[in-house]
Amino acid sequence: MSTATEALVADVRRGLGARPLRLPPRWLYDDVGSDLFDQITRLPEYYPTEAERAILAAHAPAIADACDAATLVELGSGTSDKTRLLLDALTDPGRSHGPLRRFVPLDVAEATLQDAAVRIAERHPGLEVTPVVGDFTTHLARLPRGPEVGRRVVAFLGSTIGNLYVEERGAFLGALADSLDPGEWLLLGTDLLKPVERLVAAYDDAGGVTERFVLNTLRVLNRELGADFDLDAFSYAPLWDPRLGRMDLRLRSDRPQHVRIPGAGLELDLGSGEEIQVEISTKFSPEGVADELAGAGFAVETAWTDAPGDFALTLARRV
Ligand code: SAH
Ligand code: TRP
Repeated sequence: MSTATEALVADVRRGLGARPLRLPPRWLYDDVGSDLFDQITRLPEYYPTEAERAILAAHAPAIADACDAATLVELGSGTSDKTRLLLDALTDPGRSHGPLRRFVPLDVAEATLQDAAVRIAERHPGLEVTPVVGDFTTHLARLPRGPEVGRRVVAFLGSTIGNLYVEERGAFLGALADSLDPGEWLLLGTDLLKPVERLVAAYDDAGGVTERFVLNTLRVLNRELGADFDLDAFSYAPLWDPRLGRMDLRLRSDRPQHVRIPGAGLELDLGSGEEIQVEISTKFSPEGVADELAGAGFAVETAWTDAPGDFALTLARRV
């Protein structure tokens, strides 16, 4: 069994072996899921991608100047599409900082990661591109570090941090701080609180792409663990949780059903209307982001938002 499958089995036993039923989001991103996510980023309702891109387009040169980094690490890099703006600024020979020598994208989605690495190496011939297949919650030790690597800036874009539960977020930021040396940088993208109608539309698009993306996680369990989830017997049920400030993305069983997951040694009885929590997407305030970063050992250098104030990009230094 591959270590990825072992991790899936452990996650499924933990998440579906007790109530509330919950699946960790990294299993949304097989090849099909990565492609569906790419489609989500192009939906008119899904504003975060373009908002973050606008911030990077306006401020990538300032970010590059402030960091003076030799290595750009990107966590949950996916297609690294917006990251080109950063790479262009960091490799611009006309600027005051030294040139970027290395790009290290890290993602669980291996095919997407390798494709992106090839495209970026073609675009930046002088750059050493060293992709790392891994889980950013457990594999930060796989990142290159040391004198020959030089000062690093770690980009974590797309508000992927908001997909972690509160306690996971704290643990992640602490582990990230531990893996950085004082003076190294974190560039963190976070989606901001806004009226609920826009949030709900962003996670429940009219064309049903998001529904297919979330349902795909059951297809991953069917394929990898021999499970017999009937995808037609589940509905997508996203809701806004005002108390916790997050979208709560769930799948609801349309009828009572018995599901076998042999690869995890599990059998599951779902009641009619019973829900599986698939993902959360937390929305932040700028102050909240600064507080959480400070609590983990980072000092905010600069925080930018797009013109409408939908999304924030925060540059913070490991103190
Ligand atoms: N950074 C891109 C993609 C965001 S989608 C953007 O801003 O558009 C989230 C990405 O994180 C996906 O590529 C997914 O495969 C990856 N991912 C999700 N959970 C992960 C984990 N635990 N470890 C590593 N990568 C993960
Ligand atoms: N990081 C993205 C976000 O929170 C991930 C995402 C976008 C997502 N759309 C989704 C996750 C739909 C689950 C369902 O916005």
